[in-house]
Parts: sequence; C-alpha cells; structure tokens
Amino acid sequence: MPKFALITGASSGIGLALAEALARRGRNLLLVARQRPALESIAHELSQRFAVQTLFRVCDLSQPLQLTGLLHELEQGRLHIDLLINNAAFASFGPYLEQDWRQEQALIEVGVLASARLCHSLGQHMQQRGGGQILNVSSLAAFQPGPWMSNYFASKAYLLHFSEALREELAPHGVRVSVLCPGPTNTGFFRKAGMDVRQMADSKFMLSAEAVAQYTLKALDKNRAIIIPGWRNRLVSRLPGFAPRWLTRKVAARVNRMMAGN
Ligand SMILES: NC(=O)c1ccc[n+]([C@@H]2O[C@H](COP(=O)([O-])OP(=O)(O)OC[C@H]3O[C@@H](n4cnc5c(N)ncnc54)[C@H](OP(=O)(O)O)[C@@H]3O)[C@@H](O)[C@H]2O)c1
Repeated sequence: MPKFALITGASSGIGLALAEALARRGRNLLLVARQRPALESIAHELSQRFAVQTLFRVCDLSQPLQLTGLLHELEQGRLHIDLLINNAAFASFGPYLEQDWRQEQALIEVGVLASARLCHSLGQHMQQRGGGQILNVSSLAAFQPGPWMSNYFASKAYLLHFSEALREELAPHGVRVSVLCPGPTNTGFFRKAGMDVRQMADSKFMLSAEAVAQYTLKALDKNRAIIIPGWRNRLVSRLPGFAPRWLTRKVAARVNRMMAGN
C-alpha cells in the first residue's frame, strides 16, 4: 500500500513549501485546505514535476463535521498516512474583546482542535502499525503570552506543550512527534490577519517559506523534538526563560503592536 504524507494548510505558505520539498524527495502527498482551485493546480503541478501521487481534499477545518468526513474517508480508504503535518492555522490581531467571537472560535477549531483530533485519529493508526511521524506547526509565539494576539499565541503554546508530551507517549511505539516553531516567515499569513508587516520584510528575522521547509525536513530526518529555523529565532525562543514573566508580557505586547504598525 503506498504511503502518503498528509499536510493541512497546503494551499499556500509554509504548508505549500513543505509539500514541494517532500514531493522533491519522492513522497506521495495528501493536501488539505479550503481552496479547491489552489489545491487542484498544486496537486497537478507537483505530480507532474516530481512523478509522485498527489491527492487533495477540500476541508474547512473550522467545521468539525467536515473533519469528521475527512477522517471517515481516511478510515474507509486504503491510504497509509505515515507522516502527518498539522500546519493549517490563521491569526487574528487586536484587542481580544473587540474580535468577532466566531473568528476566535474558528482559530481554536483550526489551530488546536483539528490538530489534536488528527493526532488522535492518525496517531492510533501509526501506533498500531508501529511507526510514523507527526509534525505540528506551532510558532515562536508559543514561548510567551502575546497581548493583542492573545488567542493565537495561546493556541501555539498549546501545540508546543501537546506535541512535546505526545512525543514521550508515542516514542516507545515507534511514532516520532516533532513541533515546528518558525519565527516571522514571508507568507500571506500576516496580511490575512490584518497586519501590515512591510517594515519587517527586510528584517534578518524574516525567512522564506522554502528556507523554513528545507530546515524542517532536515530536522525531521534527525528526529528533533523542537524545530526552530534560523539562529536568531532560536536565540529569541530562549529569552523568555531568562526574563521575569511581567517583562516578557510587556515586550511581547510592544513587539506585536510594532509589527502591526500601531
Ligand atoms: N508566517 C509566519 O510568520 C508564521 C510564523 C510562525 C508560525 N506560522 C505558522 O505556520 C503555519 C502556516 O502559516 P503560513 O505562514 O504558511 O500562512 P498561510 O500562507 O496563510 O497558510 C495557512 C494555510 O492554512 C490553511 N487554512 C486556513 N484556515 C483553514 C481552514 N479553516 N481549514 C483548512 N485550512 C485552512 C490555508 O488554506 P486555505 O485558505 O486554502 O484554507 C493555508 O493553506 C500556521 O500554523 C502558522 O501559525 C507562521
């Protein structure tokens, strides 16, 4: 039975770069996101260029019933998913109480619940088979609270802790779990969150999605627990451990407002 890597949020940005890097290695892919035309053309292009099987499923991960449908299809089908990449997410920016609740709920559904559920379901299959690999895409945001992006930062902290814990639980069963914590990456992510980060574009912290994907695949080969592309980002991830929490909160608040041009 052919093996597939399932990537959520594969229609753009880091997910797309990971899909391409995996296809280059000869991996079959199952791409998941909402935008059918983007998925269709990406699947077509990757299968042509790299002679791999590239399937896609349109699924809005903020809709639990759609995720149920996808999981049911995976149960019925004969796809062997041996690599799961939970990458889909979006952010909201601004005072929490002024945000639209449905958006905040969707942020948790996509960024937390869908990832936890996919790990639960596909993790069981991997455990039964005695092997597999899971990568959850968190963020540098996971290492401190983030005023003005409270819900997003907290969702990424969840993924970091959850992934580290799951790694210990699944290691004896041959299932490897890693968590990717990128710093600022040049994708449409900030624009979609309503943030103007043009002044960040030339920053040395900003990496391309392709560079993040390359670094990540090499780190996955080495079964790294926490993957942080870029030495500057690795340094920043350690700072909250040295500073008092009140200071960490204040600095994060300032950085978030600055990044949003406020
Ligand atoms: N860019 C950064 O600076 C940065 C930094 C740290 C961490 N990250 C993390 O990296 C991951 C990828 O982000 P990115 O920068 O590549 O952003 P992106 O280009 O906006 O990609 C987000 C992906 O998630 C998918 N998605 C969003 N909502 C969805 C939903 N309801 N159902 C299914 N798929 C959904 C989008 O596809 P559709 O629109 O087609 O559904 C898209 O493919 C995210 O987890 C993000 O938190 C990004």
